[in-house]
Amino acid sequence: MGEWMIYGATGYTGTLVAEEAVRRGHKPLLVGRSAVKLRPLAERLGLDYAVVGLDDADALAKAVGTVELVYHAAGPFVHTSEPMLRACLQEGTHYLDISGEVPVYQHAFSLDEAAREKGIAIIPGVGFDVIPSDCLVKYVANQLPDATHLEVAVDALALGDGAGAGLSAGTVKSMIELLPTIGTLQRRNTKLVQTPTGAGLKKVRFPRGTKTVMPTSWGDIEMSYHTTGIPNVTVYLSLPPFLMYSSRLFSPLFLNLLRLKSVREFASRQVDRMLLGPSEHTREHGRSAVYVMVRNGIGETREAWLETLEGYQFTMISGVRVVERVLDGDYNGALSPSNAFGADFVLSIEGTTRYDQLPN
Ligand SMILES: NC(=O)c1ccc[n+]([C@@H]2O[C@H](COP(=O)([O-])OP(=O)(O)OC[C@H]3O[C@@H](n4cnc5c(N)ncnc54)[C@H](OP(=O)(O)O)[C@@H]3O)[C@@H](O)[C@H]2O)c1
Repeated sequence: MGEWMIYGATGYTGTLVAEEAVRRGHKPLLVGRSAVKLRPLAERLGLDYAVVGLDDADALAKAVGTVELVYHAAGPFVHTSEPMLRACLQEGTHYLDISGEVPVYQHAFSLDEAAREKGIAIIPGVGFDVIPSDCLVKYVANQLPDATHLEVAVDALALGDGAGAGLSAGTVKSMIELLPTIGTLQRRNTKLVQTPTGAGLKKVRFPRGTKTVMPTSWGDIEMSYHTTGIPNVTVYLSLPPFLMYSSRLFSPLFLNLLRLKSVREFASRQVDRMLLGPSEHTREHGRSAVYVMVRNGIGETREAWLETLEGYQFTMISGVRVVERVLDGDYNGALSPSNAFGADFVLSIEGTTRYDQLPN
């Protein structure tokens, strides 16, 4: 198996993936911008490390050129993916990331032809966002090839702690960066349109019960279109009820404030101080769920459900499995996870069950 690197290895998720890689016998190069943070991690895991900033294009290309694959874990990816994609294309190195950000997916897919020419794979979204939902979308859409409408609902806390304890700082900082620009998106007749935040709530039945869900700009709004071409997509997320109902009232003011860079920076610093990410106990005992429904022009529908691991646990395990597949396989071009590995790939992650029906 070839050499690979984890960029952003010192973050909450990068460290989990590095630990899982070592458990599975890999020796990834740990890379990031801070020697102070990298050195103790590399020593603890017995791995080599390299200090390279994303703003130093020459040094980045040199480091990327020493490996066959980059697993990019440094987000918000709106700020970090572009320089890494450039370096990967220049050096002919595969690129994977765990972004869930719509503009990042759009940019990655715009590089499909360049990736094919270089013979590299560009596969964004190889974490909980979006492997489980993307695989389920493909599975359900395959059953109704003339589907015109797609609904995806994600319950990241099917079993586990409340919203704050269930999120890492990096995830919340990525939302802070993205929310003021994209708001709440839905896909209508192939185009992305902005819709009022907090509107369109509905109830969805998941394997462990019914929950209220709210339309969001979760990555599937872009990824599922790439996977299936279905022109109308709404993606829902289950959130604590007080957050969903208050978002309608507070979101215009909140989004206006977040448009100010100084406010985003202040908020990100507070998040860094306050959110440590889910504990090991939460990761090991938490569960998450996904529901997908497609409909065609004459009202026929197909649906299915999935229950799987807690989101960060899933990301940790799926990340290393994806690396193994890409290094062992023959992948090129910009691909969604399910187009690269198939709808059943998610079932290879332990603790994952897919349902065609739920018991009454
Ligand atoms: N797809 C999924 O399901 C999934 C799952 C988990 C996380 N994520 C995403 O992954 C990202 C990381 O999450 P996390 O929880 O690991 O966050 P985190 O703990 O805040 O770690 C972020 C990492 O990225 C590095 N970084 C950030 N900006 C950088 C820049 N401009 N240049 C170089 N390095 C930079 C940080 O380095 P410093 O320490 O030097 O700042 C740190 O190593 C977030 O965007 C999150 O949304 C996605």
